[in-house]
Amino acid sequence: MTVLGISGSLRRDSYNTKLLRAAEELLPASAALEIWDDLRAVPPFDEDDEPGTAVVESLREAVARADVLLFATPEYNASVPGQLKNAVDWLSRPVATSVLRGKPALVVGASTGAFGAVWAQAELRKVLATAGARVVEAEVAVGHAPAKFDEGGALRDEEIEDQLREALEVLTVEAPFSLVA
Ligand SMILES: Cc1cc2nc3c(=O)[nH]c(=O)nc-3n(C[C@H](O)[C@H](O)[C@H](O)COP(=O)(O)O)c2cc1C
Repeated sequence: MTVLGISGSLRRDSYNTKLLRAAEELLPASAALEIWDDLRAVPPFDEDDEPGTAVVESLREAVARADVLLFATPEYNASVPGQLKNAVDWLSRPVATSVLRGKPALVVGASTGAFGAVWAQAELRKVLATAGARVVEAEVAVGHAPAKFDEGGALRDEEIEDQLREALEVLTVEAPFSLVA
């Protein structure tokens, strides 16, 4: 079982990317995480450029190959970072054969503020569901992120680890085999 992880942050020391790395440690033994880290190279969506560049195609192929998807999103001004939304817009096309259609997806998020990017997470879930993904009903919100990761970047919060482990179990064990994720 392949889990494709996409962080919505381009930042080198991103807490959301660290959250994906933490997820890698907490996955059931039957699952392996592959992180897609070329988000910066995705061009702005333009219908005139469809089906898109080689990077867009490699993203499409990575999503198609994966059994399930794991998104870790920051919150920018109460919403999804533009570059991540842009990538999902590419993935949502062509509508009838989108690689997102029917794909189980879990959304988690980290922010430096108190709430753990819950608004961005909610918006990303809406966008993914609109594109046909089967969005898992689970939320992991890492607020005050600088206090939750140690200097080496490892997650150091047992409660969040438990939530993440549980959500990953739903994503990898239940969602792929249920009709309604
Ligand atoms: C343009 C911008 C807008 C932001 N808006 C929000 C926001 O609406 N809510 C929030 O909780 N944090 C907000 N933040 C702070 C982010 O939570 C913080 O930068 C976080 O570390 C980003 O995630 P990353 O570490 O994965 O890059 C914003 C940061 C930036 C750069």
